[in-house]
Amino acid sequence: MCEIFRKQSASILMKPFMPADIHRRSFLKSSIAAVGFVPILSLATQEPDVIADTNPLAEDGRAWWFQARYGMFVHWGLYSIHGWHEQDQWCRNVPREEYAKLRLEWNPVNFNPDQWIDLAEAAGMKYLCFTAKHHEGFCLWDTKHTDFNTMNTPYGKDALRLLADACHRRNFPLCLYYSIVDWHHPNYPNQGRDHELPPQPGDSPDWGKYMEFLKAQVRELCTNYGEIHGFWWDMNVPEHQDPSINAMIRELQPKAMINDRGFDAGDFVTSERDWDISLTTKARFDTALEVCQSVGYQSWGCRVDEDYYTDAHLIRSIQKVLAKGGNYLLNVGSKADGVIPPESAAILRRIGKWITVVRPTLWDVESAAELSSNTDVVLTRSGNTLYVHLIKEPETTSVFLYPLVDAPRRAVLLNSGEELAFDVGSFRRQHHQKPQQCLRIKYLPVAARPSYGWVLALEYEKFPEPAAPNKKEVETL
Ligand code: GLC
Repeated sequence: MCEIFRKQSASILMKPFMPADIHRRSFLKSSIAAVGFVPILSLATQEPDVIADTNPLAEDGRAWWFQARYGMFVHWGLYSIHGWHEQDQWCRNVPREEYAKLRLEWNPVNFNPDQWIDLAEAAGMKYLCFTAKHHEGFCLWDTKHTDFNTMNTPYGKDALRLLADACHRRNFPLCLYYSIVDWHHPNYPNQGRDHELPPQPGDSPDWGKYMEFLKAQVRELCTNYGEIHGFWWDMNVPEHQDPSINAMIRELQPKAMINDRGFDAGDFVTSERDWDISLTTKARFDTALEVCQSVGYQSWGCRVDEDYYTDAHLIRSIQKVLAKGGNYLLNVGSKADGVIPPESAAILRRIGKWITVVRPTLWDVESAAELSSNTDVVLTRSGNTLYVHLIKEPETTSVFLYPLVDAPRRAVLLNSGEELAFDVGSFRRQHHQKPQQCLRIKYLPVAARPSYGWVLALEYEKFPEPAAPNKKEVETL
């Protein structure tokens, strides 16, 4: 069960991300002031609920993940040198020997991990997931188990060490991405399957030996870099199962949240971009779920001539997932020199401004999905305030919250502070249907400002009960 829908004692509520001396209430006020937003009274004065998760995972070291919820994914590797897609070696069938020469050009002289963390913080993100090894097999750390690593390059430094040190210094949780498929290692059985090279000269395919190599690298990553907060497997092409590997990670790194693309089901489900239709059809998520998405439509790496998603697309996607109780991992690709491209950084900063305004409607809230069957909105609740998240482009200037018929004391567009009109009456939600009773929020200022990322805050004297017998059937993942 996801954090936002379960209340629990303060004992397991971790607050590692808020300066200890800043009380949450004053923190909210200062964030609101920082973006020039006119606060509604209930937000600024109400004590937010003490909420954590009753998911068993949230009762041990992994609790941090259920609080953090929004993180930065960084893809970085040799493919960034010429601004390739991270899978160009496979897509263009570049022979291993030729690709490996890119190592001689690896020299990210401008890599400054503090700048990455600064950007993540400006974006409102609370953790970072780093591609320690992508499919190309190049290792961004000082591994003793292959020469194909950042030490044997003109750079000659352990990039992961620099990043891990900065994350620990700043108390910023660090997770590691590790590709199981490996286009460089001679023991990995590259057979030309999906996401695999064809066999290469000098190969000696041996799954057993490859697994020994993989386990040794995982042990290295979980031993030499201090606290690791997560392990993000990718591309288990042979779909090999071996629960002992995640068990080793858990033993070495008890705070690590592990995804489901490795050798067993792990701790959480990964869902990529917005491909999974159930992200839209489910009213809320009751399993631990993290959606990953890149700012670039084409690639996860830093690709030249990238087609960037619009702010509207990304914000609606993030809002939908967070409001339904999921985590969101938004990716940027680093340039070869170690700098996040300005276009990507600007997108993250703009999203961060929006997060600052809407954070109280997405964190430390409960689901109120049962109040309305309108699938264009997602409902969350804090105290007696109902938050209506508009996750689709509004088709009209009104929102109908059928079957809810309770009028609030006040309605506000949180993004601007504007007061909104509303009434309860009989309305056609679809023009071919008979009118039905419901609460309507009307005259939305859709012509005056871009209508994405909107949250309508409805303040109630007494919070409404779900209507019976029309109580909505809430589908959950
Ligand atoms: C897909 C892509 C891979 C990327 C990953 C991130 O698996 O194949 O390149 O790293 O998504 O989720």
